[in-house]
Amino acid sequence: MSGSVVAVLLFSCYNLLYAPSLATATQTVVASALLKWKTSLDKQSQSVLSSWVGSNPCHNNWTGVSCNNATAGVESVVTSIKIQNVNLTGTLGDLDTWSLRNLETFDLSNNALYGSIPSSIGNMSNLRYLSSNANNF
Ligand SMILES: *[C@@H]1O[C@H](CO)[C@@H](O)[C@H](O)[C@H]1NC(C)=O
Ligand SMILES: *[C@@H]1O[C@H](CO)[C@@H](O)[C@H](O)[C@H]1NC(C)=O
Ligand SMILES: *[C@@H]1O[C@H](CO)[C@@H](O)[C@H](O)[C@H]1NC(C)=O
Ligand SMILES: *[C@@H]1O[C@H](CO)[C@@H](O)[C@H](O)[C@H]1NC(C)=O
Repeated sequence: MSGSVVAVLLFSCYNLLYAPSLATATQTVVASALLKWKTSLDKQSQSVLSSWVGSNPCHNNWTGVSCNNATAGVESVVTSIKIQNVNLTGTLGDLDTWSLRNLETFDLSNNALYGSIPSSIGNMSNLRYLSSNANNF
């Protein structure tokens, strides 16, 4: 076997083993992560997020949630969550950051969130804009 064939085989194995875990999270996974977090918030906050139902945040027009545009063969994915100034009360403790790793914008400014920003926020490796201003962290 030539070196380049070996290299191609190794590369294929690498992709098989690791690519699925780095791939875009499915919108069903994203939906359950967001619903789990919603459930951890207080009643008033849950009612603010009452449009958060179902299993595809991109089809169901969830408050504060935006998706990129689908391209040929690729479904849209949640890229932005902006929930500002609605007295959102609770913590980020139940936020499944790994499932939200495709988020680019996460803006929770001017709310009443408390506790600490979990170190697992680092799992959100595509995040370019994070605002937690004016909360009680
Ligand atoms: C999504 O919901 C918002 C607020 O409820 C509404 O203003 C907007 O028209 C809706 N968009 C679509 C595409 O349904
Ligand atoms: C999606 O496409 C629409 C219509 O072409 C455009 O107005 C909008 O800005 C696009 N959204 C994103 C996130 O690229
Ligand atoms: C914000 O929410 C908390 C908890 O539900 C409530 O006690 C407080 O009165 C609310 N504040 C405002 C300004 O609505
Ligand atoms: C997410 O972040 C936490 C804390 O930094 C880390 O322990 C965990 O392994 C990460 N999860 C994944 C799937 O990378």
